Amino acid sequence: MTENDSSQTNYFCDVIVIGSGSAGLRAAIEAHDNGSKVLIISKSMQGDPHTLLARGGINAALGTMDPKDNWMIHASDTLVEGEHLADYERVEILCKSAPDAIDELVNWGARFHREKDGRLTQRFFGAHTYRRTVFYEDWTGNEIIRVLMQQVIERKITIMDNVHIAKLLVKNNKDKADGQSNSSTYKIRGAIGIDVKKEQLVKFSCKSLILASGGYTRVYSISSSRNYEHYGEGIELAYEAGVDLVDMEMVQFHPTGMVWPEITLGTLVTEAIRGEGGILLNSKNERFMEKYYPERMDLGPRDVVARAIYNEIAEGRGTTHKGVWLDVTHLSLKKILDRLPSMYKQFKDIAGIDISKEKMEVSPTAHYSMGGLSVDINCKTKVEGLFATGEVISQIHGANRLGGNSLLDTLVFGKIAGRESSIFEKQLQTTQEDCLLESKVDRELRKFETEPIMVLDKPLSFRKEIQDLMDQFAGIVRSASNLQKGLEKLLILKDRFHSQIRILHENELSNENHIQNLIVTLEVKSSLVVCEAIIRSALMREESRGAHFRSDFPTINNEMWHVNIYCTKENEGRKMMLYKKNVKEAKGNLKEVIKDHLKAVHNNESE
Ligand code: FUM
Repeated sequence: MTENDSSQTNYFCDVIVIGSGSAGLRAAIEAHDNGSKVLIISKSMQGDPHTLLARGGINAALGTMDPKDNWMIHASDTLVEGEHLADYERVEILCKSAPDAIDELVNWGARFHREKDGRLTQRFFGAHTYRRTVFYEDWTGNEIIRVLMQQVIERKITIMDNVHIAKLLVKNNKDKADGQSNSSTYKIRGAIGIDVKKEQLVKFSCKSLILASGGYTRVYSISSSRNYEHYGEGIELAYEAGVDLVDMEMVQFHPTGMVWPEITLGTLVTEAIRGEGGILLNSKNERFMEKYYPERMDLGPRDVVARAIYNEIAEGRGTTHKGVWLDVTHLSLKKILDRLPSMYKQFKDIAGIDISKEKMEVSPTAHYSMGGLSVDINCKTKVEGLFATGEVISQIHGANRLGGNSLLDTLVFGKIAGRESSIFEKQLQTTQEDCLLESKVDRELRKFETEPIMVLDKPLSFRKEIQDLMDQFAGIVRSASNLQKGLEKLLILKDRFHSQIRILHENELSNENHIQNLIVTLEVKSSLVVCEAIIRSALMREESRGAHFRSDFPTINNEMWHVNIYCTKENEGRKMMLYKKNVKEAKGNLKEVIKDHLKAVHNNESE
């Protein structure tokens, strides 16, 4: 990283990574090991990304507990759980690379749970054919971040934290715009950010940039993300730079979030609890999953279990705080403390409940965005030099993500994004001096840089209005009439946003309240784009598939809707346009494994 003026507002690096979760850290390590100079920029504090909250584990078909497992069965589970909307080639990469990803973590010092004979323990997660989830207690994300941070520190990769990116700097790539080729006409040049600690705007120049900025589940009011993360910030930045969005309607509601005390609403209650034998009960003490998914009961697919809980509550069989019960009182305290220590502590400390003696109250919480940026198999976007990885991208998990696959995805595709960004920047003939000179003399870039930063004076109430709207009109159960109402209200909010924002004066950055307003304004700006994409795509998809459930089209319709839905920005305007593309059919051996899988599920169901 190079400082280019005495006030430290300009930085240059070969590769800039936005996001310091497991995807960003893994990408940074790979780009560094390929010889690039890397800088990580993080919205959250160093060592405190969202990945820390990932609980139950990470998948790999190691077969340590169930030797019949292999990568193809893992891929088949992933594709079937995603209702065949994922790109099978990416799923193949994900599942084939999984054992190496675990090996790497172990070699770097990850302390995963082991059996007495030294085998890595693997536990069940929902909708898996075999036990394949590797874990560290019930706090696996924390362990993975610990290990990756150590690698980042050893390599002396700089992390600038508390920096919020306000826009990407892209340049029209005129040399390539010959009207003949389909190649990108835009290239990445850097980003402008707000450095909260220094209370100033900062400019980053780079040859390639990786977005690893997470998903968009905080656009709902009940979410397993903290209230300062996951408003689709990276998605909006890339969309504004010309990258399309894919399958944005696919938002996963995890079946079990905390409901009481109110301050905990949405906080994740790990699926590992059900993996270790926890059971769901309604207020009448009935094991209601018998009714909805007798084959796998509490460990059914996440969308099915979340809708079952939603339904029990809606039909009056919920608890006082609008939840259902999750019960582990039949497990020994020893097992709970060995396998689920952080859940034990979470309920004890915050809710005053000893889960070995009392039941937990839970209900669904917005947990994961399957939709996101359109990238190719090498994590490249259509903006030259702009890569993306982790929850910000699409087409890996289809319509519903298999529990335990997200940590895996961050490592596998983080590594790919790091490698590709490094290869890309090395092929450029550009030097650091060229980049800096270009940004001084190029009128288009200067225009971008000097464009005023806009702020709302009361962004918090605006943000809340958007979340309430999404809960009400685009939640677990959707319909055309509700989505249409939601869209109309959202477009009104969008107009209001544009009429209420004002130019921020740089001297306001020394005031904590103004900085806070600016950050929340950026979250509102992202939310508006993301929510429009969710609602428009949900309206377009007239079927129910995975996490997207339409009460007016309650079944899957493969003839019409075996497609990915794309949102694209109409040239220069604010208008969002939608189009669809057929999903590629799986080929080769994997296709046969999926067929057998579906036959087995079908046979089980008809027994
Ligand atoms: O329930 C959980 O621990 C969540 C895991 C995941 O989403 O992969």
